Amino acid sequence: MKKRAFSGVQPSGVLHLGNYFGAIKRFTDFQDDYDCFFCIVDLHSITVYQDPEELPKLINDTALYYLAAGLDPQKATLFVQSDVPCHAELSWMLECVSTFGELSRMTQFKDKSKGKESFSSGLFTYPVLMAADILLYDTDVVPVGEDQKQHVELCRDLAQRFNSRYGETFKVPEAVIPEFGARIKSLQNPDKKMSKSDPNPLGYISLSDSKDDIVNKIRRAVTDSGREIVYSPEDKPAIANLMTIYSLCTGLEFSEIEEQFEGKGYAAFKQALADAIIETLAPVQEKYREYAESGIISSILKQGAEKANEVSSQVLKRAKQRMGLSLLLDPTKRKLS
Ligand code: TYM
Repeated sequence: MKKRAFSGVQPSGVLHLGNYFGAIKRFTDFQDDYDCFFCIVDLHSITVYQDPEELPKLINDTALYYLAAGLDPQKATLFVQSDVPCHAELSWMLECVSTFGELSRMTQFKDKSKGKESFSSGLFTYPVLMAADILLYDTDVVPVGEDQKQHVELCRDLAQRFNSRYGETFKVPEAVIPEFGARIKSLQNPDKKMSKSDPNPLGYISLSDSKDDIVNKIRRAVTDSGREIVYSPEDKPAIANLMTIYSLCTGLEFSEIEEQFEGKGYAAFKQALADAIIETLAPVQEKYREYAESGIISSILKQGAEKANEVSSQVLKRAKQRMGLSLLLDPTKRKLS
């Protein structure tokens, strides 16, 4: 039997190059060898306010980009989190197994709540919902970028704690993080990751950016002192980040890039980088348009939700039984409308 892979992306704004190289493009590497479940985690996105008029479009767009990046719905199950009620239910059960202390130590929570007078409780319990997502599918591997590593560690801790308290219930999953591209940095500040919540759009390249946008953003990307193209993350973090993106787009090694641009300076490198990004994104944008026009996405998401409900409801039932909760409403017998 194939091992299972699970991952998710929030529909909370534009998808950017970090999401592409750190996650959705890599998902396609798993679909032949793993039984894959990929989720659009809309419940996670509402931990901060989302415009209810806009959210359905963002959910749809995120699904379309999964397909445009090469995800094959015949091979992988693609679904929306809020179409599968087991996620929110298991999340509550796991909240009762997690501690306030361990959730307080989550760096993403600390970053996102920093300096804010008020934030939702959901922002605090966010990683527990993520653990529920993963554990409901008896997941073996979780392909994610570097920033989600701590959350997957928490998921492992919760699974182990639940298993030792209530008896063997959950498979303990592992994060799979790529060697390169796991942490693409902001184009404006190489100390920060490229992020869709960045208020400055010059910090990220969105998957829908036009050629002109890409050229402009790369031209204005910050660089380091000097003018040599050498890979040295400590001394030249901005150039190292741009070289990482160039390497991911072209498949060239850092030594080959250094050779290609020896004595040529930043302007020539930036021009080539912009071209490489445009070339990488052109087929993705083309496929995005094709899938959008075909209108096929709603039936793909419906089929995905059916399969996800089937699998997750069995695991939820198992967990409810172990905890001694009521099973008058059998989760495996609920139906989608
Ligand atoms: P999200 O939506 O922030 O990001 C989606 C995926 O993109 C990766 N990523 C990056 N990779 C490299 N460089 C970057 N700058 C960069 N920014 C984002 C993320 O690591 C992630 O893999 N909590 C998750 C969503 C989630 C999830 C899950 C993931 C919910 N449930 C279960 C895995 C399994 C998140 O916020 O991702």
